[in-house]
Amino acid sequence: MSRKTKKPTFPNSYQGKNAEEYNQSTWMERNQKRTALLCIQYLYDQHLDNVHDYDVLRDIPYTILDLGSGTGFSSEILAENGFRVIGVEILKDMIYKARQKKTGHNNDLEIEYILSDINYLPLRANSIDHIISISAYNFIIHSATTSKEKIILLSQTAQYLNTILKTHGRFILEFYPADEKELNLFKSSFINKGFNGFMIQQHPNQKSGQTFLLLKK
Ligand SMILES: C[S@@+](CC[C@H](N)C(=O)[O-])C[C@H]1O[C@@H](n2cnc3c(N)ncnc32)[C@H](O)[C@@H]1O
Repeated sequence: MSRKTKKPTFPNSYQGKNAEEYNQSTWMERNQKRTALLCIQYLYDQHLDNVHDYDVLRDIPYTILDLGSGTGFSSEILAENGFRVIGVEILKDMIYKARQKKTGHNNDLEIEYILSDINYLPLRANSIDHIISISAYNFIIHSATTSKEKIILLSQTAQYLNTILKTHGRFILEFYPADEKELNLFKSSFINKGFNGFMIQQHPNQKSGQTFLLLKK
């Protein structure tokens, strides 16, 4: 099975030689960077202006948190587009590659990589303008076996993200819930913790289909 069709598993798909393979994959790089550009477009989506109180995004640079930043493809695109970026990554093998690129040819980009779990971020309340997460958030429940465990984990994380975000902060999430039931658990975890917004599904009937949640605090 090719890299494009194989479903990644956490943490195996991102450790050792798999981290190296991930970083070398031109298909993966193109895919992550294309999705990051789409996330920037969604960040400025006019329909989000009307969620909660009306507000329009103007000022750059915003500080953006990139949750599950991997080897840095998405963080690099965000920084190249004028954002200050904090990339959060839990695996040493992945963040090592991202930092290597940062100190090499990406030296001038405003990115800081933090080795941390999305569920336990070492960040202050109201310190982040917006959040983006690409192909990573579904993994935060990888250790949970029952719906109850998933709900607890999702609820704690949504609460924490709400705390670190500034008022009206936006959260653009692209992820791969296992099924409809799991998708609903993710959605309700955000609604219950003060986020609001809507979902966009691209090519829902295809294997390559992507699910986006466009949320606002
Ligand atoms: C598809 S990859 C990276 C995608 C990234 N957007 C990029 O451009 O390379 C998903 C990443 O999420 C990370 N991840 C999974 N669970 C995590 C967690 N709880 N906290 C932080 N990172 C996590 C994985 O280690 C992996 O590197």
